[in-house]
Amino acid sequence: MTPDEWAAGIGFLTATGQKCDAIRQEYILLSDTCGVSMLVDALANRKSGAATESTVIGPFHTADAPEIPLDGSIASAGKGAPLLVSGRVTDSAGAPLAGAVVEAWETDGHGLYDTQYAVRDVPDCRGYVRTASDGRFAFRAVLPVEYSIPTDGPVGDMLRALGRASMRPAHLHFKIAAAGHVPVVTALYVDGDPSLDADAVFGVKSSLVARFERHDSADDARRLGLTPPFYTLAHDFVLEPALFPAAV
Ligand code: BEZ
Ligand code: FE
Repeated sequence: MTPDEWAAGIGFLTATGQKCDAIRQEYILLSDTCGVSMLVDALANRKSGAATESTVIGPFHTADAPEIPLDGSIASAGKGAPLLVSGRVTDSAGAPLAGAVVEAWETDGHGLYDTQYAVRDVPDCRGYVRTASDGRFAFRAVLPVEYSIPTDGPVGDMLRALGRASMRPAHLHFKIAAAGHVPVVTALYVDGDPSLDADAVFGVKSSLVARFERHDSADDARRLGLTPPFYTLAHDFVLEPALFPAAV
């Protein structure tokens, strides 16, 4: 390393720290875009068998997601193309987990999380449901769309210098928790998204690519109180037993 290269490295790391504030965490973004976050996650969250794999939580999870009733909506009206999400939460042996928490958060149809708007009176495009006695859950959402990670800081400079893309493929984040089981932070990625193989933060795993099926039938939409097109996503989550169970 030459003295100039050394100084440039110090300058880059200093600028990364200076870009951080109470909301913006440029160092985590640097970790994400270097693949470090996914590596730490992979080492900490080894899964066996059919257990649902984890992925990065990202900077847009909040602690104020509201509980919504089964079949309710995590998105307010007009936030994007309607999406019906359903599935089951089971243990590794396929037994249903009743009362499991299925939390989801996502972008709206503009590719923005609620926390990215100047005004955020209430949480939107985020919420959680509890599974029924047969482990089933269902809620309404909107079709998530792909978006760029923030590129107005040193991480953006790094991506441009390396000729790397800044996009994340469209995805729906999940946090699944059930008493006596290891919780999982994960996401489902929209099959067919052009950025699946070029995720800026390396978060995609093949087991997490899911079919968000498009429906154009006006009759089906009307029966559901929707306008076409609408989308459906069906996915089951599998949790492993916890060695040291914690309350949920
Ligand atoms: C996200 O998926 O929300 C995300 C993850 C890592 C960096 C930026 C965004
Ligand atoms: Fe995200």
